Amino acid sequence: MTKTLPVSRYPKVTVVGAGNVGATTALLLLMKELANVVLIDVAEGLARGKALDLMHMRSNEHFGPTVVGTGSYEDTADSDIVVVTAGVPRKPGMTREDLAGINASIVHSVLKGALAESPNALYLFVTNPLDVMTNLAVQLAGLPPQRLIGMGGVLDTARFTYAISEATGAAPRDIKALVIGAHGEAMVPLVSLATVAGRPLLELITPGQLAQITEATVQGGAAVVKLLETGSAFYAPASSIVQMVKALLEGSATLHSSCVRLNGEYGISGVSLCVPVLLGSEGVREIIELPLSPEEGEQLHASAESTKAQLERLLQEG
Ligand code: APR
Repeated sequence: MTKTLPVSRYPKVTVVGAGNVGATTALLLLMKELANVVLIDVAEGLARGKALDLMHMRSNEHFGPTVVGTGSYEDTADSDIVVVTAGVPRKPGMTREDLAGINASIVHSVLKGALAESPNALYLFVTNPLDVMTNLAVQLAGLPPQRLIGMGGVLDTARFTYAISEATGAAPRDIKALVIGAHGEAMVPLVSLATVAGRPLLELITPGQLAQITEATVQGGAAVVKLLETGSAFYAPASSIVQMVKALLEGSATLHSSCVRLNGEYGISGVSLCVPVLLGSEGVREIIELPLSPEEGEQLHASAESTKAQLERLLQEG
């Protein structure tokens, strides 16, 4: 009698990089029962050890999906989504842009390995500087750009929401806010559109509070780096990845600020930048153009120019 293997009811998500962000992403994907996970790292023992630890945890938590750790891209074959977290994190005093050279060569080699095994996957980039890496991937991968997306705006939005919540006392779920633009100093918190329990944020706070909220949002990642001393944030980044993976797998009517290729939207073309997006199984389902204030529009254009300039510098350096 021939035995047929059971068909898994879970999608397959590969997480490249089994460090802080990658392993926390795997943990959340499993606990939320969103996908079977393949954790891959150049440090194969790290990936295999963390996967084994998570499978031990499964005995207590009884989540359905499974995780394997590996150093070989063959094990990632036919993934539905590949999340790229491989790379070097920031140290105190560094900007995300300082990581560009070293992380570009890592992203290059990851793409080569992953694309050969999963040419039909959606790719979600997390490695910093996020916008530059996503733009680089669009140039290198030869895939339709709607399948190459960067995670940055969801994380910046989480930090913006936290800062608004601290200033107003409102619960995060009552705050509607978005941060767009580059995932760095040039990010654009959309203060003109933010609401707290349905009321415009700008009617509830003083100019001084607004300046503090903006500063806490833009410097949120740096504040974590400064406190940790030995690495950068990973809980909120992993949670932001998982929000996006869920939306990509299931389709979502919620706007996710995602780094995607613009084709005239917001008057910008030929660059990937975080803007409000509806995500689904095809990747980018729709880019939503919100009415920005003139100042926010200018900031978004400045974000686009700074990302383009960084990419050009990186490509010239070779
Ligand atoms: N292929 C696979 N894994 C790699 C490669 C590679 N070519 N190069 C490095 N790695 C792995 C490292 O071995 C390490 O385990 O990437 C992992 C990175 O983990 P951490 O050092 O813990 O960094 P982390 O905090 O997870 O951040 C990863 O995400 O948020 C960004 O700025 C952050 O770029 C950084 C990335």
